[in-house]
Amino acid sequence: MTRYAHIVGWGMSVPRRVLTNGDLAQMVDTSEDWILSRTGIRERHIAEPDQTTASLATDAARQALLLAGLTPLQIDLIIVATSSPEHIFPATACLVQDRLGATHAGAFDLSAACTGFIYALAVATQMIATGGYERALVIGAETLSRIVNWQDRATCVLFGDGAGAFVLQASAQEGGLLAHTMHSDGSGGDLLSLPAGGSRFPTSKETVEKGLHYVSMNGPEVYRFATRVMVSATREVTRKAGIRLRDIDRIVPHQANLRIIEMAAKSLGLPLERFVVNVDRYGNTSTASIPIAVCEAVEAGKIKPGNRIVLVGFGAGLTWGSAMIEWVIAGQGRQAAWWRSGFFLLRILARMRSWLLQAQRRVESFFWRG
Ligand code: UT7
Repeated sequence: MTRYAHIVGWGMSVPRRVLTNGDLAQMVDTSEDWILSRTGIRERHIAEPDQTTASLATDAARQALLLAGLTPLQIDLIIVATSSPEHIFPATACLVQDRLGATHAGAFDLSAACTGFIYALAVATQMIATGGYERALVIGAETLSRIVNWQDRATCVLFGDGAGAFVLQASAQEGGLLAHTMHSDGSGGDLLSLPAGGSRFPTSKETVEKGLHYVSMNGPEVYRFATRVMVSATREVTRKAGIRLRDIDRIVPHQANLRIIEMAAKSLGLPLERFVVNVDRYGNTSTASIPIAVCEAVEAGKIKPGNRIVLVGFGAGLTWGSAMIEWVIAGQGRQAAWWRSGFFLLRILARMRSWLLQAQRRVESFFWRG
């Protein structure tokens, strides 16, 4: 029997602090008009000092679980797609697992830059389809503000922080993620990278002095690549799913630059209105951009049950990919007050469990004689 992966919950979290183009014009040599006309971005959200990739990811995941009417204990798998993980290791996904109290879940990070959320959806769907897993949390989360050089006008105006999450659940009913594509071309790895801090250039005084711990990008080359692959990946996934392009209700593209989205719409011969666009309010939140856009589109009634939607993205690697989704379940969330309160209790229990496990480890190591 074919098993499908349905999206039964979705959630997003963005920091409260907003940085406008006007604010940026006072920080670097740029103007409100340049940023808006070249990118379509008006403002972006920036994490407060106490917010991190894991905290935003956990908030988004809680929203998604709440809507799905599921507890963290029912989750088998957590994948966090991120380009700004909490650490190189442990995986941000493990920190999220601990904070949620998802005691039965395996957890790992997935690195495919801005295409990461699509890659993670594809991986989770396959794991559900093959029968090993029932429910997965797929999260895209970023605090790019921590790895951007705030003196480099070519990059700092583009990015923002945030997180988005989906809960996937196995179902025998046709729908959910119907087809996907994943592509890569490492020959373009130098076009968009964070050069230092890994094994190639371990962090040193020199790497910091040269600013190699910041995002480095060849904007025009990435732009050229993006306009090409957005079109090819959209066409490819519709072919794979056997659905005509004109029968697609919505396209949710990676939110990097409005001009890239406009060019893709033109090349595909589709009206821009069919595309979900929110880059003006969030900037480029990398792996989080697609799930945040989906959450807002569902909220605004732009994605409805029965709709066929294409998610399409591109990013560092180079990577690109797409997913065809039939939006079947409208959310079965238990929004009742008792469910919300119960969820809050679970949050406290998860924190207590984490403390107890740490304390137990300390006591054991005190008595342990190897
Ligand atoms: O998730 C994937 C992430 N990356 C992307 O999607 C980026 C794709 N690329 C782009 O979106 C665009 O290439 C950018 C928005 C980054 C740049 O736009 P552009 O139209 O390609 O500009 P450019 O890099 O060709 O630069 C044009 C001019 C240059 O000045 P000169 O040499 O013509 O005098 C830049 O120095 O604009 C200048 N410039 C700026 N001026 C004011 C670059 N950044 C700024 C800025 N403010 N922030």
